Amino acid sequence: MTLIPHKYTDVELFDLLKKYDDSAITSSDLQEIADHFDVKTSSLRRRMKRKGFEYNAKKKTYALTKTQLKTAKKQLETQYEKPHVHATKQKENLVPTSDDTFIKFGAFPDLKKIIQSRLFYPIFITGMSGNGKTFGVEQACSQTKRELIRVNITVETDEDDLIGGFRLVNGETVWHNGPVIEALERGAILLLDEVDLASNKILCLQSILEGKGVFLKKIGKFVKPNEGFNIVATANTKGKGSDDGRFIGTNVLNEAFLERFPITIEQDYPTVGVESKILTKVAESLNIPMVGEHKNFITHLCNWAEIVRKTFNDGGVDEIISTRRLTHIMRAYSIFGDKMKSVQMCLNRFDDETKESFIQLYTKLDDTVNVSESTQ
Ligand SMILES: Nc1ncnc2c1ncn2[C@@H]1O[C@H](COP(=O)(O)OP(=O)(O)O)[C@@H](O)[C@H]1O
Ligand SMILES: [Mg+2]
Repeated sequence: MTLIPHKYTDVELFDLLKKYDDSAITSSDLQEIADHFDVKTSSLRRRMKRKGFEYNAKKKTYALTKTQLKTAKKQLETQYEKPHVHATKQKENLVPTSDDTFIKFGAFPDLKKIIQSRLFYPIFITGMSGNGKTFGVEQACSQTKRELIRVNITVETDEDDLIGGFRLVNGETVWHNGPVIEALERGAILLLDEVDLASNKILCLQSILEGKGVFLKKIGKFVKPNEGFNIVATANTKGKGSDDGRFIGTNVLNEAFLERFPITIEQDYPTVGVESKILTKVAESLNIPMVGEHKNFITHLCNWAEIVRKTFNDGGVDEIISTRRLTHIMRAYSIFGDKMKSVQMCLNRFDDETKESFIQLYTKLDDTVNVSESTQ
């Protein structure tokens, strides 16, 4: 005889039963549940009987006795505790490591102070792509020895990804805490990265943004925020969409959601001075000696990026050179030792026209390279 495993687990069954009045499950309820699991009602009846449901012939309903209801709930709670206990046992440290290449600028000192205060005071950071929003939050947590849990938001992100849900572990369904619950319980900083990509499903965070914690309705448990819990969100827009179509995929965030953030930090690209320091640090970390032409390369790159950004702001070009892209160029330079090649390679992601105009501009600033070299 071969053993056919159940099509559904006890947790799945009890989870579904919550939708019904478990003091009286009628025969039409039974039919619905059986259909849901794609099993016969007779098999469902047998399973329910085994789980302690009693049939009331007069009312033609199934019900759990009070003690049995308690046992069933206990069972569910132990399932919930399992992965949780496991996580705390490991006691992994979620404080980000410090990065030597980090240079503080702009509102970083304010951000750091808020994080250090351990107060619940959600922060919304908005600014162009690749200007150090995520890196800044990470380093602020590192410097203040605060734990950070980062969630990358996409249009697909939903309650299951954020809060948690049932997962299959060794053939058993067990409750699994989502990153938000983990952050609440640890009193950590929760980073909702690129939050303007979210759909309205993110509204499940509303009560958490009010500092109130959350009720996990699937397992009937309330999770309070622990001391030190706070939220930082980053976005390319201010959550009002993007008029110029630059940030495809960004969505208009719910007004009530945005209202829950007491402060918004507008982060610009670093100034030429700061950006030169950043690139110098990156170069040093790549063992590029900071002398002569290497040093000049950094100066040219930073001036070049600044002109591109100004032109972008005036509507002269559609693309921008981010701090992130400049660090990519430095990395290419450490590999190939060739300035023009490094600039070109890192511009390949842009369309031909933009790429050509950016290269032209670079060759005007740096007289050690020329256009013919760039078209080789
Ligand atoms: N303040 C900074 N100090 C050093 N490097 C920086 C700084 N800001 C940005 N960078 C560089 O730019 C990259 C992109 O930063 P990131 O935080 O990912 O951008 P954003 O989140 O704004 O899109 C970083 O990985 C780092 O290499
Ligand atoms: Mg980022």
